[in-house]
Amino acid sequence: MPNAKAPAASRVSLGQLMGTDSSNTLGNVHGGHIMKLMDEAGAAAAIRHAGSKVVTVAVDQMVFHEPIRLGDLVTVSAELTHVGRTSMEAEVSVTAVNLLTGATTHTNTAYFVYVAIDKEGRPSPVPALTVTTEAERKRWEEAVVRRERRLAGK
Ligand SMILES: CC(C)(COP(=O)(O)OP(=O)(O)OC[C@H]1O[C@@H](n2cnc3c(N)ncnc32)[C@H](O)[C@@H]1OP(=O)(O)O)[C@@H](O)C(=O)NCCC(=O)NCCS
Repeated sequence: MPNAKAPAASRVSLGQLMGTDSSNTLGNVHGGHIMKLMDEAGAAAAIRHAGSKVVTVAVDQMVFHEPIRLGDLVTVSAELTHVGRTSMEAEVSVTAVNLLTGATTHTNTAYFVYVAIDKEGRPSPVPALTVTTEAERKRWEEAVVRRERRLAGK
């Protein structure tokens, strides 16, 4: 098993300018477009940590607190909060910046779970996650509660 890694080692940040290809029928950004970006950012963090391919196995509740406008610069940030034997949870958060005014909005955060897979598509073990700061330890403990809830509802 490879050495343990810190959450910062696999942190990912994706930026994208919201063009007309991401529009919904109201002229704002389509929620599905943001969900895809979030899954990509979370998966990128999980792949970096695992050093292997991953599949998305679960996504927790997704709530959009504010609309995102066309022309906004969206940043999607992903960081691992917890790993099990083969699964990894990523906290994925989204901010939107109006480039004309500089106004920044945190629009949503969600938790995605990925499973590392081997060449045959079977779940494969991932490195441990080194949590050292108080904030990382708190996020780990909260992730354990979410994991228990997910697996209880399986
Ligand atoms: C992910 C997958 C390989 C897991 O298969 P499985 O038979 O449940 O495998 P396991 O029981 O060994 O579980 C593997 C890990 O997944 C986790 N897991 C399984 N079901 C889960 C669920 N509903 N929620 C959260 N985690 C789950 C397990 O806890 C385990 O993690 P751990 O090793 O850290 O404890 C399988 O469900 C799958 O292929 N799903 C489809 C994934 C996919 O194609 N995603 C893209 C959709 S388009």
